[in-house]
This record gives sequence, structure tokens and C-alpha cells, in this order.
Amino acid sequence: MKSDPKKLRSAANAAVDARVQSGMIVGLGTGSTASWAVRRIGELLSSGALENVRGIPTSETTARLAQEVGIPLLSLAEARPEITIDGADEIDPNLALIKGRGGALLREKIVAAASGTLIVVADDSKLVDALGRDFLPVEVEPFGWESTLEALASLGCEPERRLIDGDSKNPFLTDGGHYTVDCTFPSIADPAGLEAEIRCIPGALECGLFVGLAQTAFVASDDETVVMQA
Ligand code: 5RP
Repeated sequence: MKSDPKKLRSAANAAVDARVQSGMIVGLGTGSTASWAVRRIGELLSSGALENVRGIPTSETTARLAQEVGIPLLSLAEARPEITIDGADEIDPNLALIKGRGGALLREKIVAAASGTLIVVADDSKLVDALGRDFLPVEVEPFGWESTLEALASLGCEPERRLIDGDSKNPFLTDGGHYTVDCTFPSIADPAGLEAEIRCIPGALECGLFVGLAQTAFVASDDETVVMQA
């Protein structure tokens, strides 16, 4: 099932309306769904329904959008977010996630971990019985990436460095200047165990498995937005 922009927007609006209050510092996720949440916060600030909400962005793209819609920004040097609102690529029944297909997973994980609460916004196409329906992104240090790729392959996946337009001279670079390696596993039976194994590979900076971080998900279907709790 493909994501539906209308549903993504409904989920994002529902999460902002229910969970963002005046005076809050909010971690601002990255991707098309999170961008609806950023726009909604901007709308509510400009209408006066919200006051003094500040954001901590998870990417340069999100920072630009937040500035465009009038959300003042802070960094983690200045504050910690009380909540973070972010999208996901896959959501399992325990609210373990795969994130990072949009290329911002390291900063997203840093902000989510610094935040009291991670709220996921998505549509029902992102719900899976078990993670690993599609590839798992891993953010990788460019130095020695070839050996990092081998180490990832030894975990039983097919790793592929993400390229722009398939050009091996033009790798996709994250905001931090890192590569992203997309790892296709036959299945992911133990997300926390796999996350721990990937963390043991020196050049693998972070992976897109977010286990135990999300407390709540707002998931839109055709008829309604359901709130799921971990
Ligand atoms: C970016 C992400 C995104 O949140 C994830 O890819 C979902 O994106 P979208 O809302 O565009 O479907 O993890 O790194």
C-alpha cells in the first residue's frame, strides 16, 4: 500500500492538535508527514491558537521549513524537546520503528532520545506485523565505508550505499556529511538485538531501528486517526 498524502496530513494535524501546547519546545521530525506537523504548528502560531512554541529541527530541510512558517528554533545546546513529532517508514505493533528512508535518521534519533516523548505520525500503509518489510537504512562514516559495508553484510543483509541518480561518484550525503547504506534483510525477528549488533560496527554511526523510543503513534486510515500506545 502506498502512503496517502491526505492521510499523512490528517495524522500530523491530529498529533499537533492533541499534544502541542503553548510554551512547549518540540522536536521537529523530517519527511513529508513530519513537514505537515511543522506546517500545522506554524499555522496555530500565526493564528494565535498557540504561543511561544519553539522547535528543535532534525534536519536542515526541516529547519528551513520551520523558519518559513514562523517557528523559532533552538538547538540541543540550549534546550531539550519535551516532545518530538516525527514520521516513520514502518511501525510494528509495539511501536518499534524503521526510520531513515528520508535520510535523516542520526539527527532524528539524537533528538528523539533527548526528548521526553516521541510521537509518531503516519498513515496505515506504514503498519507492519514485523519490521523489515523493506530495507533498513544505516548512517555510515565515509572513511572506510567499504569495510563497514562488509561488516553489515556479515549480519545477513544485502547492503547498498545510497546514491543520487544511481551515480557511484555521487553518493547521497546526510546533513552530517555521512553516507547512508540501505540494508535489505530477509526478515528482522529481533529489532533490539539487530540494533545492538549494528552498534558494534565501528563505522556504522546509527541505524534506522528505533526500539523503545516511541510512546504514541497517530495513524490515519480512510475513516479515522487511531492513537496507538506502546
Ligand atoms: C526521514 C524519516 C522519515 O520520517 C520517514 O522516512 C518517513 O517519511 P515520510 O513521512 O516522507 O513517509 O525517517 O529520515
